Amino acid sequence: MPLACPACGDVEQALEKTFEAITCERCGTRFPVFRSGQAQLPWLLADPRASLLEWKARYNGFLHENAGERARVSDALNENDLSQRTRDRLEHLLHAREQHAAQIAELLAPFGFGRIEFYDDGSPVDRSHMRLAANQGLTSYYQNIFRDWAWNNGENDELLGAVNEVLGDHLDGNAHRLLTVGAGAGRLSLDVHQSCRPELSVAVDINPLLLLIASRMIGGESLSLFEFPVAPLDAECGAVLQHCAAPQSKTLSADDNFQFIFADAMHLPFRPGSFDLLLTPWLIDIIPENLREFAPRMNQTLAQGGIWVNTGSLAFAHSQSAWHYSQDEILDVIEAAGFEILESKRRTLRYLQSPVSAHGRVEMVFSFSARKLRDVAPQSRFRYLPQWLSDTQQAVPARPEHVVVSTDHLLRAQVIAAIDGKRSVASIGRLVAAQYDLPEDEATAAVKRILLEVYENKMR
Ligand SMILES: C[S@@+](CC[C@H](N)C(=O)[O-])C[C@H]1O[C@@H](n2cnc3c(N)ncnc32)[C@H](O)[C@@H]1O
Repeated sequence: MPLACPACGDVEQALEKTFEAITCERCGTRFPVFRSGQAQLPWLLADPRASLLEWKARYNGFLHENAGERARVSDALNENDLSQRTRDRLEHLLHAREQHAAQIAELLAPFGFGRIEFYDDGSPVDRSHMRLAANQGLTSYYQNIFRDWAWNNGENDELLGAVNEVLGDHLDGNAHRLLTVGAGAGRLSLDVHQSCRPELSVAVDINPLLLLIASRMIGGESLSLFEFPVAPLDAECGAVLQHCAAPQSKTLSADDNFQFIFADAMHLPFRPGSFDLLLTPWLIDIIPENLREFAPRMNQTLAQGGIWVNTGSLAFAHSQSAWHYSQDEILDVIEAAGFEILESKRRTLRYLQSPVSAHGRVEMVFSFSARKLRDVAPQSRFRYLPQWLSDTQQAVPARPEHVVVSTDHLLRAQVIAAIDGKRSVASIGRLVAAQYDLPEDEATAAVKRILLEVYENKMR
């Protein structure tokens, strides 16, 4: 597959591949290749070391949360007046949480997170602006694993239906190379691979847990993993051991060419024009980039005449309201990025309707297919962080929201520092009132609000 270096952006020099790593001959960046069963999983993130450390931190966050859950359930089990039913439910949950930590640790073992330490390789290139968005946690899309490989409730067929509806016969048998960006646990990539029969499919994601599971399921393995539904249907459903595997009919034959790559949608490691079918399922509204800049990046992945199929919700949550495009604006943006719109449709789908939960969504997804007519290159490389955060010598811009945030933090710090085990809410309120020249009842109400938040955070 024609790779390009995601660190320096070089597309001319070869990336040298050995058993353990891929190295860029131009900038010298070494990208590890992880192994799980038969699968080789190259870690082609722009800053491989920093991104591994970030995922290690997110894994530690998961372990920390898991330990907190277990401590809460153990505390509850120590109460005397529990009914036998309640005790049984809590014991089941405690056991499941313990098993869950072990299951995730085993799944992530190929990455060796325990052994990775921070080190400085002395590289003169500052790549800190390429860091991963903070909202992408290890278990952010955990339920998708069960939707893809365990529930077998028809949702995957509905999603494939949404893709096929806009793809129609536009491919005309010309899908030689399929790229899925944001493939997650991988089921849709596999379903489209099997319906379009390309010579090569590449599934890309930044999440090590999801893509690893994708590679294991598509490779024909099975695994057991606990699901923790938000609204369990009964006591046993609080934690359900799910058996995850691809249906028999979906197992790939040995000559199927399916690859998995850890990469960032904004720094894709492919030479321009490497694919002729591109799939972005539930992705365009969650990435931290304006679709106007992202669409040309997608343009670059495709060869002339290649087709981009997008499906999913349009639940944009950027701080810039201008980026929250409506469906008509999206079609304009895609056209401006060098595409001709072939089809666009809304379709109602069931979404994450776990059979063991009382919660489940219905979404009217928006799908389109668009053909690349001409090259439109991105204006610049994507920067997650602004200049003033990556260049420590630049002035930090003063913004009105900083004043609000700093006053709020200062007040919180003062209220919490005033707790000495003797003062009441009212007496801390009097201190705050004197310091800020406020009416006492107003200051006491503010103190109560802050302490209430601290209390509720601890309770959560
Ligand atoms: C809403 S989930 C959808 C997953 C999958 N497409 C599906 O339909 O189940 C979004 C996916 O995008 C991935 N993702 C988020 N930011 C990404 C980025 N910058 N580059 C690549 N993948 C990303 C997440 O890890 C996650 O797997």
